[in-house]
Amino acid sequence: MTKKIRKAVFPVAGLGTRFLPATKAIPKEMLTIVDRPVVQHVVDEARAAGIEHFVFVTGRNKAVIEDHFDMAYELDDTLQKRGKAKELAALKHDLPAAGATSFTRQQAPLGLGHAVWCARDIVGDEPFALLLPDMLHHGGKGCLAEMIEAYERHGGNHIAVAPVPDDQTHQYGIVGVEDASAKVSRITGMVEKPAKGTAPSNLHISGRYILQPSIFELLARQEKGAGGEIQLTDSMIALQEKEPFFAVRFDGAIYDTGSKIGFLAANVAYALEREDLGPQLRAEIARMTG
Ligand code: UTP
Repeated sequence: MTKKIRKAVFPVAGLGTRFLPATKAIPKEMLTIVDRPVVQHVVDEARAAGIEHFVFVTGRNKAVIEDHFDMAYELDDTLQKRGKAKELAALKHDLPAAGATSFTRQQAPLGLGHAVWCARDIVGDEPFALLLPDMLHHGGKGCLAEMIEAYERHGGNHIAVAPVPDDQTHQYGIVGVEDASAKVSRITGMVEKPAKGTAPSNLHISGRYILQPSIFELLARQEKGAGGEIQLTDSMIALQEKEPFFAVRFDGAIYDTGSKIGFLAANVAYALEREDLGPQLRAEIARMTG
């Protein structure tokens, strides 16, 4: 019997330097994909997978994320008075239950491994999900839902992966697997940004994880890795010597919204799927490119 995955961690303390100047005063996680902040899309994915508690690791300039996941009393009241029932219902639907969110501060952006470690007391002694809020996974029943299914079958630790072109593997965290064609496969090795020509496969770590709480003991060492940052991958490599890790291949579309091109592509893809926007946007694009 595996322990239920109840909590999800969202590290939102990064500086978003690739998106300056937009991210000078606005967290990159609050930039919108169509009309929803990026982080809301990722929280939606976690809710759809049955997550009950949402843990945000924030930093300075990120208070607006906390406000976004709180009730906006004056706004609700105004919508009510103006008879905007549909908008009010949509806001209510998106709001996590009272007490279902926790916020902690990373204090300094020392790396993803450090951000995850900051959630240790809130997560406690249970396996948890980790979702990088700038990585959108779109399609199917949802990436985390697929991973939880795999976790319930196999237990252990899980990482979502997806193929990248062979000549780009040096830009990513890459895993080696027993069977690259399988939906779920045992991981045989991991490497952060392998030198060109040395990658064990073309499967990159795409920003969704299910981790056992033993990861926190390794993160507590706070060893610096690539780029002088405390890297999550380094602790996962150490944990993999003791515990099973599985790769869950995600077959939908993945957008890195922390990069300008990923952000633009995600906006177009999500808008094209909307009944209220798709036809009009398609016509606009045809006009611009025709
Ligand atoms: P990224 O490296 O993509 O985010 O980290 P970044 O550092 O904000 O972006 P750039 O490269 O400067 O543009 C992946 C995720 O981990 C979080 C980020 O907020 C992002 O969601 N993160 C990263 C932290 O919470 N703390 C950190 O110290 C580093």
